[in-house]
Amino acid sequence: MTLRSKITGTGSYVPKKVISNFDLEKKLNTSDEWITERTGIKERRIAARNETNSDLCLEASKKALEAAGLKAKELDMIIVATMSGDMPMPSTAAFLQSKLGAKEIAAFDMNAACSGFLYGLSVADNFIKTGTAKKILLVGSEVNSRFLDWEDRTTCVLFGDGAGAVILEPTRSKRGILSTSLYSDGDMWDYICLPGGGSTHPASAKTIKEKKHYIKMRGNETFKIAVRTLEKLVIDTLKENNLKPSQLSMLIPHQANLRIISATAKRLKLPMDKVALNLDKYGNTSSASIPIALDEVVREKRIKKDDYILLEAFGGGLTWASALIKW
Ligand code: UT7
Repeated sequence: MTLRSKITGTGSYVPKKVISNFDLEKKLNTSDEWITERTGIKERRIAARNETNSDLCLEASKKALEAAGLKAKELDMIIVATMSGDMPMPSTAAFLQSKLGAKEIAAFDMNAACSGFLYGLSVADNFIKTGTAKKILLVGSEVNSRFLDWEDRTTCVLFGDGAGAVILEPTRSKRGILSTSLYSDGDMWDYICLPGGGSTHPASAKTIKEKKHYIKMRGNETFKIAVRTLEKLVIDTLKENNLKPSQLSMLIPHQANLRIISATAKRLKLPMDKVALNLDKYGNTSSASIPIALDEVVREKRIKKDDYILLEAFGGGLTWASALIKW
């Protein structure tokens, strides 16, 4: 039977500090009503001053390792999907490896913005399928709060911090990751971007003054493309796997906007109780949103053996991606 990869453990962590829509109302020209109606978000978590991205990764990873019954020393690869790493260099995965006390193994970051976790899942899946790696830790983690302009109501109300982790191991059963699909269209790079701090606009007094070190988003235009793209993506993913929407047990979408998620669920004729949702509690945690949601449904026992689960994401790049799993 074909070698494929299987998720053998999940974990997640969100910082303790909660910022509600009502807290934002006090500082910005916004309202709980606007944020709730337009996005579905009620509150988000914000990392403490001394908490780094790799600290969030560490907490989520410890839980995933425990769930898989593994020690960090048994891992042979660490991948961190993030766009808000500890430093531009070295990778957040290197810091995580050190904090976990994992032995000398491959450790690297991936950036596909909000699609990052599914890009990481696909890369990890391929390492396992070729037999190159046998125990991979994949984390999606973000400290978005450090890259938000807290005076810009069009972005700061949307994002939050958090981390989700999975362990992937080989299996020869019919269960596991059945397919992954990855897409990007770099012509649309400026729909969601963080222009400062790279080699195009290295940090300077000017870039700081021009607020280039914050996340920028052309929200409404992105919204329309996301709805259209994701509707096609989920149908194509099911077709590739010869499955009907009615065979799906759970949709685990990237948590950017409840209206985008509802449109995708509607296209699949899937009732909302079969959709994993947490953006009301955490906002948009970019590459962390899917692994956090996955960990929650696993721990709540909302998915069981042999269930078909569809994961999908859309984000900066623009990128979009899906994965189909038989649990
Ligand atoms: O995760 C990566 C992928 N990201 C996405 O998929 C996000 C996609 N976009 C969205 O989720 C939505 O477009 C937003 C939630 C960002 C915005 O919702 P929208 O329904 O597209 O609103 P809009 O941008 O068209 O703005 C409508 C109005 C504007 O005012 P005017 O011009 O009509 O007077 C905005 O200035 O709402 C105003 N507005 C706000 N009002 C109160 C924008 N932000 C706020 C705010 N509070 N926080």
